[in-house]
Amino acid sequence: MQVKNADFKNNYPQKELLLKFLVIGEFGVGKTAIVRRYTEGKFSSNYKITIGADFAIKSILWDSDTRINLQLWDIAGHERFGYMTRVYYKYAVGACVVFDLSRVATLYAVDKWVSDLREKICLPNDQPVPIILLANKSDIQGCSIPSDAIAKICKDNGIAAWYITSAKDNSNIEQAFNHLMEIAMENEQTSYENKPDKNGIILKDNNKGVVSNNLKPNCCN
Ligand code: GTP
Ligand code: MG
Repeated sequence: MQVKNADFKNNYPQKELLLKFLVIGEFGVGKTAIVRRYTEGKFSSNYKITIGADFAIKSILWDSDTRINLQLWDIAGHERFGYMTRVYYKYAVGACVVFDLSRVATLYAVDKWVSDLREKICLPNDQPVPIILLANKSDIQGCSIPSDAIAKICKDNGIAAWYITSAKDNSNIEQAFNHLMEIAMENEQTSYENKPDKNGIILKDNNKGVVSNNLKPNCCN
């Protein structure tokens, strides 16, 4: 099908931004389930451990002028992947740290995940990467983590906000990602607009057409 120029102009926003967000936290807290719920609208109760990292993308019409191509990097939580997964942090402009409301130890591990992130990356203007905390699995009955304990961890770690979520019930996930996108959009310099990312992708302005795309496969050549 041929796309007419006029259609292209009328239907496509002027600006396209690439935002990279990380989803981190202890194993089994529901990171993959959250990403899957947000990007595919699906949930499965089977636990399939993430090996290394997974990657998903969602394209969002942010306003009439702007499309966001959101990259979500779902980082394995299991300790055995600890050293290899940190390489995926680079160029992230936001992070969701997830814990499991039914396992309090996963809340106390949030400090570790935040310190690790802060040690490894910051925004191009040297400011800390904004973080939202997700208290996941709210559908499970009988969880009793007091909200002031969660609020204290947020305060101590410079976490912008926290949301009670359920990937199973699809509760608050979109709200949480929207909040993080709002912060990332406010941090103008974090967008990497018109700067190549590590794969050589240069973002495009639809008025000018695609500027460049030097994407090279990461495999054996
Ligand atoms: P790793 O990949 O090992 O780091 O784990 P993960 O954080 O990606 O966990 P994952 O998303 O695979 O979820 C672990 C288990 O928790 C799975 O059985 C999910 O179905 C379940 N789960 C995830 N989110 C929820 C939720 O909101 N409610 C309930 N009841 N179960 C959930
Ligand atoms: Mg996973």
